[in-house]
Amino acid sequence: MKKSVVIVEMGLRDGLQNEKTVLDADTRVEFAKRLIEAGTKRVEIGSFVSPQWVPQMAGTAEVLKKTQELAKTKQIPRKTEFSVLVPNERGMLDAIQNGVKEVAIFAACSESFSKKNINCTIEESFQRFEPVMALAKKHKIKVRGYLSTCFGCPFEGKVSEAKVIKLAQKMFKLGVYEISIGDTIGVADVGQVESLFKKLKKVIPAKKLAGHFHDTRGQALANILAAYKLGVTVFDTSLGGLGGCPYAPGATGNVATEDVVYMFHGMGVKTGLQLDKLLELNPWVAEKIQHPLPSKVGKVGRLKPLGKIL
Ligand code: HMG
Ligand code: MG
Repeated sequence: MKKSVVIVEMGLRDGLQNEKTVLDADTRVEFAKRLIEAGTKRVEIGSFVSPQWVPQMAGTAEVLKKTQELAKTKQIPRKTEFSVLVPNERGMLDAIQNGVKEVAIFAACSESFSKKNINCTIEESFQRFEPVMALAKKHKIKVRGYLSTCFGCPFEGKVSEAKVIKLAQKMFKLGVYEISIGDTIGVADVGQVESLFKKLKKVIPAKKLAGHFHDTRGQALANILAAYKLGVTVFDTSLGGLGGCPYAPGATGNVATEDVVYMFHGMGVKTGLQLDKLLELNPWVAEKIQHPLPSKVGKVGRLKPLGKIL
């Protein structure tokens, strides 16, 4: 098994998109800066979606501009990879106008969630990707893909593995460089994860797959470990376990970055992240969004011996 993994930080997008408190651009830039100072190499910085649908993500262009400025003036490493979520051609045009080098497209594996989240069928969402991919090719922009509701849908319940595999292959054929397999409502268990990833690996190389686990039922760490043991080495996490999808009722945030880093470091697997810096960032974010974050390691930190009693 590979002795290092890549963490893709979701806090600024999947995290903040579901928070009641809307953070201004400067606070979001500071959040990004501090994540990068903690060693984060890949950050999803926001989304170019409709502000009527997700008001929290308005201002993504300003966040991008200011973050790019930080890179230009070497206040953060130039090689940090920022991506932005886009649902359609309009979002892609915004991304191009704002000098984005990487975008992420997203589709669902269940029709009801597709309709609720992006107001179209799964088939229509793939049609929308065609002009997005053509523009990406023309402007040399990397494209990542997400598949949502891969393990269950909040409206339809179970989702068949065959459907997920078919859609993953379809998305991969579009030319995305990586597909993130989403447990949107945090319903997956280890059995499901092992079964689905074993099948996915037969049609898409494991190094092109990522795991995107929301931690609604406390299974995310176990699910990540199961996927890692099958050769998956890219995982989406959110500082403190922030957020969730506003159109997935009952779903909580992504698995917490601190919890995932603690687990992998304990196993001797490198993440490139500094746990202490993430732990310092946790209360800063909690103060900004005005409530404590769910991360377990974020709450109690590392082992702190109280001293010998005898
Ligand atoms: P719609 O209302 O069907 O769009 O929404 P429309 O094409 O009919 O356009 C309506 C208006 O929106 C028009 O403006 C468009 O210009 C504008 P008007 O003429 O009325 O002034 N519009 C846009 N504005 C800004 N940016 C755009 C854009 N597109 C159209 N890109 C739409 C369709 C897709 C836009 C909408 O449903 C939407 O924005 N949905 C996004 C929902 C979302 O962001 N959900 C959360 C992210 S997904 C997620 O969290 C899951 C993930 O984490 C993985 C997992 O956990 O499984 C990725
Ligand atoms: Mg998500």
